[in-house]
Amino acid sequence: MSNLLRKKNIFNFNDVIDMISKYGTPLWMYNFNVILKKIKELQKFDTIRFAQKSCSNIHILSLLKKYNVKIDAVSFGEIRRGLCAGYVSTINQDIIFTADIIDDQTLNEVIKHDISVNVGSIDMLKQIGIKSPGHKIWLRINPKFGHGHSKKTNTGGENSKHGIWDVSSALPYIKKYSLKLCGLHMHIGSGVDYIYLEKACKTMVNYVLKFNLNIRSISAGGGLMIPYRCNDASIDIKKYFKIWDNSRKLISNYLNRSIKLEIEPGRFLVAESGILVSTVYAIKKTSTKTFILIDAGFNDLMRPVMYGSYHYISVIPKDGRFLDENDTTDVVVGGPLCESGDVFTQNEYGDIETRKLPNVKLGDYLIFHDVGAYGASMSSIYNSRPLIPEILFKNNKFRVIRRRQTIEELLELEINSC
Ligand code: LLP
Repeated sequence: MSNLLRKKNIFNFNDVIDMISKYGTPLWMYNFNVILKKIKELQKFDTIRFAQKSCSNIHILSLLKKYNVKIDAVSFGEIRRGLCAGYVSTINQDIIFTADIIDDQTLNEVIKHDISVNVGSIDMLKQIGIKSPGHKIWLRINPKFGHGHSKKTNTGGENSKHGIWDVSSALPYIKKYSLKLCGLHMHIGSGVDYIYLEKACKTMVNYVLKFNLNIRSISAGGGLMIPYRCNDASIDIKKYFKIWDNSRKLISNYLNRSIKLEIEPGRFLVAESGILVSTVYAIKKTSTKTFILIDAGFNDLMRPVMYGSYHYISVIPKDGRFLDENDTTDVVVGGPLCESGDVFTQNEYGDIETRKLPNVKLGDYLIFHDVGAYGASMSSIYNSRPLIPEILFKNNKFRVIRRRQTIEELLELEINSC
């Protein structure tokens, strides 16, 4: 057997093969022990609030609840997922709804369940105030700068649609509708570095002091990176906490009361817990490239196509032969979709790149690593390909937490509309 699961061998080889034989490919697998380890690393923060957009399976949410992790919801659907997983919004702001718009259905839902709203626009503030005076809110600030692993994940600055630009214009409406301002929130992007972080913290303090905001909590947002490549460094959580804790202390001293510090990660908690398992169905060559074509496409894992994101790929040989890591070929890995961009090895500009893989044969399994965040949750049914199963490993047992969608289920929505 090969040892090419060397990056982060979060699953036993034979277990992966066992799951393939039971559930087929493509297939998502998560190891809950990895998530638990991540939760422990964040224990110093008063509240860990999971950005469920990164991995919104209700079984994972309900397990997180057992470990005292709260959740962020960004849509009506995510609120329903939270409630379904057992979160009760009124208890200590178990669920916070974060958005820049609030549609009528969602507004009724947050009122019904008394869900605090992290408000990202002045219009939204007015709409909540008119319909639910006295509602608990947070203000999501656009600090006028941002930073992300891609332009598409930078959530601050003049080109960002997120957050409130001019905080002073929010204050009259908070007063007018007696809204209860619980906290300030700042998420400057996904993939933050320490320089921007320090800047964000200073800005948070400045806002509180400048506007004399009577708050009880601050949220550091999410954005903590994980090492996708073998040589990437892990984030220094102690340093991260210290930077935010200093700001918390400054605010606390100024307001003369204790201030709670929240963190709102998605990727950091779940990315490294997940793999995507696929099967090689074709190997073909052009004049310059060798293409390995697998049964997972960008409808399953969208990140490489959307951002040029790198995911480590390892190989499990179907016939159990030994794979020599020193005997590799430069290959392009593509999916089954009828779209030429359906390639997992490309850069952020859409240029095809090659990856060194060992001698892959038809029927071998390719494993994509670190896909627990923004993997399944970003999947679509493009090319009429149903959603694929999710399997969770916990307490030494594997459990299906989402079965494979059938083509009949997919068509049903349309057939019933005839
Ligand atoms: N809080 C807010 C308000 C957010 O908008 C986000 C992510 C997070 C927290 C969590 O960020 P994280 O800790 O996961 O970086 N699809 C992209 C990431 C988009 C993130 C959108 N907002 C990706 O695959 O990298």
